[in-house]
Amino acid sequence: MQKNKNTPSIDALVDAAKIAYNSAYAPYSQFQVGASLLTKDNQVFNGCNVENASYGLGVCAERNCIANAVVHGCQTFTHLVVYTEQEKLTPPCGACRQVIAEFMLPEAKITSVNHLNQRKEWSVAQLLPDAFLPRDLT
Ligand code: THU
Repeated sequence: MQKNKNTPSIDALVDAAKIAYNSAYAPYSQFQVGASLLTKDNQVFNGCNVENASYGLGVCAERNCIANAVVHGCQTFTHLVVYTEQEKLTPPCGACRQVIAEFMLPEAKITSVNHLNQRKEWSVAQLLPDAFLPRDLT
């Protein structure tokens, strides 16, 4: 976690995601992923994917990153970065899109970046239009 008066740059978010990438536990897929989040008050959190011998229990980097921020009392995020070392830039999986939509506004940004510093950006709404949200429960 990092506290900042000024908004951290996208490069600071990429660095945080890269650090998490290096902690990824992905012995089954060999597909390491790091993620980072910017909170509405300019804090940065990160997370990595954590797999399990019971394969279905693996958790993606994005969801672990969100859980890390929530543990620290943050629930609103303006930017999510996903870092991999894949030539094809990695988008969040469907399950993560649903969890992202719970904590990020439709116009918030998601950036996928790789080791070649190639980048692709989406809004939350682009990745999950017409999301099922808390308001749909009322
Ligand atoms: N994975 C992530 O952590 N985030 C993504 O955006 C895509 C997939 C993980 C899940 C699993 O541990 C591995 O990558 C291969 O699917």
